[in-house]
Amino acid sequence: MSSTPQWLESWTPAGGARRVRTLFSQAFDGDTPDGVWFAPGRVNLIGEHTDYNAGLCLPTALPHRTYVALRAREDGVVRLVSAQTPHEPWEAKLSDVEPGSVSGWGSYVAGVAWALAAAGHEVRGFDAAVDSCVPFGAGLSSSASLEAAFAVAVDDVDELGLAATDAGRADLVDACRRAENEIAGAPTGGLDQSASLRCAEGQALLLDFRPGLSAVESGRPVPFDPSTAGLELLVIDTRAPHALVDGQYGARRASCEQAVDLLGLENLREITPDGLEAALAELAPHDADGILTRRVRHVVTETERTARFVDLVSRGLVAEVGPLMTASHASLRDDYEVSCRELDLVVDTAMAAGAVGARMTGGGFGGSAIALVPRDDVERVANAVSRAFADAGLPSPAFLAAPPSAGAGSV
Ligand code: GLA
Repeated sequence: MSSTPQWLESWTPAGGARRVRTLFSQAFDGDTPDGVWFAPGRVNLIGEHTDYNAGLCLPTALPHRTYVALRAREDGVVRLVSAQTPHEPWEAKLSDVEPGSVSGWGSYVAGVAWALAAAGHEVRGFDAAVDSCVPFGAGLSSSASLEAAFAVAVDDVDELGLAATDAGRADLVDACRRAENEIAGAPTGGLDQSASLRCAEGQALLLDFRPGLSAVESGRPVPFDPSTAGLELLVIDTRAPHALVDGQYGARRASCEQAVDLLGLENLREITPDGLEAALAELAPHDADGILTRRVRHVVTETERTARFVDLVSRGLVAEVGPLMTASHASLRDDYEVSCRELDLVVDTAMAAGAVGARMTGGGFGGSAIALVPRDDVERVANAVSRAFADAGLPSPAFLAAPPSAGAGSV
């Protein structure tokens, strides 16, 4: 098996637009679209499995994006083609879309139109062509980038005016999350859609998922430029299978909800770091196997680590965040139990080869890890990880450079 690192390059906006314009014209009789829109995948720097627990997350947007060429229709029909699934064109009438009524990849798209209509917006049907360089199934939010690209496209052609302001983008996030939860049937928490729609170039986004916050309070830009400290953010797609519409993610959510009920709280954010031991003592009689204890300990300590990460970055101390990343990984591995052999191998190998911090990113159970690496050591770390995978008989991982990039927009 080859151990030469494989790099996944992002497309230029012009290159992405050219692809979807060509696909659109081939699929829809030589016609031209009304425009081209895009939305990025994301990595989460820290703050994992905290979004559905009213906690903190800190994502950045990838330069890898999903592109959409779209033209509005007046008959309420949605017709979709994708370069990723060339043999699966997708069609539905918007008036037929409701929870349980549609399936397949188009449900993520039609779900966005459905959710915007449910929020009171006038949404027309459309023809659209999709292509993406966000790796699919890699835990880098290819689904959220698909939803978000359509959210900004529909916002534009139907003149909803939401994408123009951050508060409006928070409304688009809600529509995308409803699409994913209620139409596509994946019980995700809002981190991915927020990142794809609200991130900005050169910045991370501090998300606070406490209920009742305004858009401004729920998402604050945090300048994040590892290059000022001579570092690069490296993403490693383990290529280990990863699925969100499966039982494990739902089981983690259910344990958190059970702990919330037993403690008589609204959410786990109400437990402060100082109150953690008391909360765990209260849970103990109901927790013979220790599962609730471990899950709650991860969630409470992870939001605390995220706050400390932001504090360091805000004081220009990017090089000092490494131990927080590595502690986050250990907590996800040991307490939340969502890591896997491949993710642990990336983290251990990257740290041994010179990374200042490394952790799994996203939901886990496969997917991707991130490493913060001194610029001069990037090749060495990539080589070491590739070799470790080859030695373990695992399929080759893929590497992505991940400078903090722009959120969804038009080309
Ligand atoms: C997935 C979900 C997110 C979030 C992360 C874990 O990416 O889609 O909502 O819960 O897992 O932090």
